[in-house]
Amino acid sequence: MVNLPKKLEQKLEKRRLENALRVLPEAQQLIDFSSNDYLGFAKKKEFSKQALNLLENLNLPENGASGSRLLTGNHRLYGKLENLLAFYHKSASALVFNSGYDANIGFFEAVPQKGDFIFYDELVHASIRDGIKMSNAKAYKFKHNAIGDLTEGIERSRNALDMNGEVYVVTESVFSMDGDSPNLKALSDFCTAHGYYLVVDEAHATGIFGEGKDLVCQLGIEEQVFARIITFGKALGNHGAAILGSDALKTYLVNFARSLIYTTALSPHALASILTAYSYLKKGSENERRKLQKNIEFFKNQAKLLGLSEDFIESNSAIHCIIIPGNEKVKQVSNKLQKEGFNVKPILSPTVKKGQERLRFCLHAYNTTEEISKVLSTTRNLIK
Ligand SMILES: Cc1ncc(COP(=O)(O)O)c(C=O)c1O
Repeated sequence: MVNLPKKLEQKLEKRRLENALRVLPEAQQLIDFSSNDYLGFAKKKEFSKQALNLLENLNLPENGASGSRLLTGNHRLYGKLENLLAFYHKSASALVFNSGYDANIGFFEAVPQKGDFIFYDELVHASIRDGIKMSNAKAYKFKHNAIGDLTEGIERSRNALDMNGEVYVVTESVFSMDGDSPNLKALSDFCTAHGYYLVVDEAHATGIFGEGKDLVCQLGIEEQVFARIITFGKALGNHGAAILGSDALKTYLVNFARSLIYTTALSPHALASILTAYSYLKKGSENERRKLQKNIEFFKNQAKLLGLSEDFIESNSAIHCIIIPGNEKVKQVSNKLQKEGFNVKPILSPTVKKGQERLRFCLHAYNTTEEISKVLSTTRNLIK
């Protein structure tokens, strides 16, 4: 095989030296404190049968979509799913993308224009950052969850603000690497008062908050938010995403979002699977959501009893992170937990800032209280 160019070899070597080389892990049969399958939907065997039944009933035997949505790929299930999503998540419309990554790069590349301004929380997901890099607007970050810093940032840039430039404010309802949430109500009031466009990535809130909807719905601020990104790869146990917003925003994205236009659409089977998950989410998931909530409360109580609360980032979501500085140290603790049978992943720098390396516990409806007690006491023994 042809060797890698020298510069790339050097970058890999640097990663090795920093103890931060990424490798694809083998699938393991460990107790799950790592996946985003918060409600256990990805493991529900009956869903795949129901999805196949739906395809048969609708006489949709095709294996693939066969083209982009603007060509031959816009099969019947797209309309069905988008209508359902708009109604369920209380939005005027919904536009499905192949993934949350695609939705974010498509949105940020296409929507903020030259002369516009993007203010984004410093901890937003890589897909938002990548989209922002592709945008022609000027972008500034503000301190994590700090409306004060956002306000100051906008004030500071006011001289530079083109009078015709729009301001986009970007945050997440649950931060993927911290598990915490902004004061979304205050942020949306702030944006409404100043005529700014608020964009909220709901990836880790979809299907969990707002009785199985999202955090914006829970707070009743749907009318104030310009765009919401919901994803199906986490609590829905599937793959794909949608942007929720006005009919005009949907029309605009269909015309200008390159990650929607220039890619093959999702297969009928993928959409049947998402529809099946939503059907259960609407009618039958109360039990799973209650169990997840109980596990979150139990986890927090146990952490407190073990004297670990101070080390954890405050969170009411399914994601709980304990800071263990240094790639080597956090990897060591994670490896030992894995040897004890627990799948708890280390989050290393550069994914998070140096010194902010952490263990990330994802909780699920199907974790037992024994598993939670044991993983926390083992962690305590390893780090204290
Ligand atoms: C906050 C956030 N947004 C977007 C994404 C990307 O979603 P997807 O996995 O569907 O591409 C993720 C996934 O890791 C995420 O955590």
